[in-house]
Amino acid sequence: MLDAIVTVVENRPLSGGHFVLSVRSPCQAQAARPGQFAMIRLLGHADVLLRRPMSIYDVRPGRNGNQAQPEPQVLDFLYKVVGRGTALMATLKPGDRVGLLAPLGHGFFAEDYLAEARGGDEVLHVAGGIGIAALLLPARELAAAGVKQRLFFGGRTHADLVGVDEFSPYVSETALATEDGSLGHHGYVTAPLSSYLEAQPGKRLLILACGPWAMLEATVSLARRYGQRCLVSMENRMGCALGVCLGCSIRVQGEGHGSYERVCTEGPVFWSEHVVWGEERLPKT
Ligand SMILES: Cc1cc2nc3c(=O)[nH]c(=O)nc-3n(C[C@H](O)[C@H](O)[C@H](O)COP(=O)(O)OP(=O)(O)OC[C@H]3O[C@@H](n4cnc5c(N)ncnc54)[C@H](O)[C@@H]3O)c2cc1C
Ligand code: FES
Repeated sequence: MLDAIVTVVENRPLSGGHFVLSVRSPCQAQAARPGQFAMIRLLGHADVLLRRPMSIYDVRPGRNGNQAQPEPQVLDFLYKVVGRGTALMATLKPGDRVGLLAPLGHGFFAEDYLAEARGGDEVLHVAGGIGIAALLLPARELAAAGVKQRLFFGGRTHADLVGVDEFSPYVSETALATEDGSLGHHGYVTAPLSSYLEAQPGKRLLILACGPWAMLEATVSLARRYGQRCLVSMENRMGCALGVCLGCSIRVQGEGHGSYERVCTEGPVFWSEHVVWGEERLPKT
């Protein structure tokens, strides 16, 4: 992990207040693993002191990449404007500088998800909104390992379903869902997921999920019902992202009053059966 001041090379607007921020940082790009994240610090804004956590969406050679320099030089972040910090991110221009603490977290442990995926029939990616950002790198790594994959992607409206074209080379099928019915299934993404799981008796599937808590909880409940394993990537609010403030802690299976683990250091990816879901996740008073 490295704390660096890096240069913006592009900040490309997409639909629905989404952007892809690209920064040049060869060391951080080459160290990044699927499922890891970064903390972005906006320089010169005293009212936005805390860094903002963002999944590492992609790492790539950059526009000037050539055969002599094929290693990743650039990190991409797919983000949605939801408040002051992300609104300021949207104003960044090529040549601007930001602070970048990365890569952070364990991401998808290769020994867990690659081994599990290779031994099974198919990997199902389940993304809710901006959760898609955590899944592109694992999808590429799984595709390189020859694993069959499928994407289930839901959002509030069609403009939330960004990044489908980037994902499609790695999956055989994509099922879309929107809550307003503007694209794909009308309703939650867990409906097409449930139908698919129902139609796959005897298959060994691995689910990789990232999105809002309610979507994760519904996905985990389906995985349990159909006896499939599931890895969840959590996006709890964060303070330090270094394991110090405990602000990102979640309740996990353990003795007595339960145990807690930090999403920033022990996560952000967990086996779903390790996490405590439902009312039980809240500390007893
Ligand atoms: C590990 C991790 C990876 C993430 N990856 C991405 C990503 O790839 N792309 C992306 O757009 N966002 C991602 N997020 C969420 C992102 O960090 C927040 O949207 C961002 O910090 C909001 O900053 P803000 O100043 O614009 O909004 P604020 O003014 O801080 O908040 C605006 C609104 O957003 C809500 N909000 C803020 N943070 C979160 C959060 N973590 N989860 C749910 N709601 C939140 C607040 O409750 C509030 O309603 C990630 C978060 C984590 C922890
Ligand atoms: S954000 Fe501070 S311990 Fe995780």
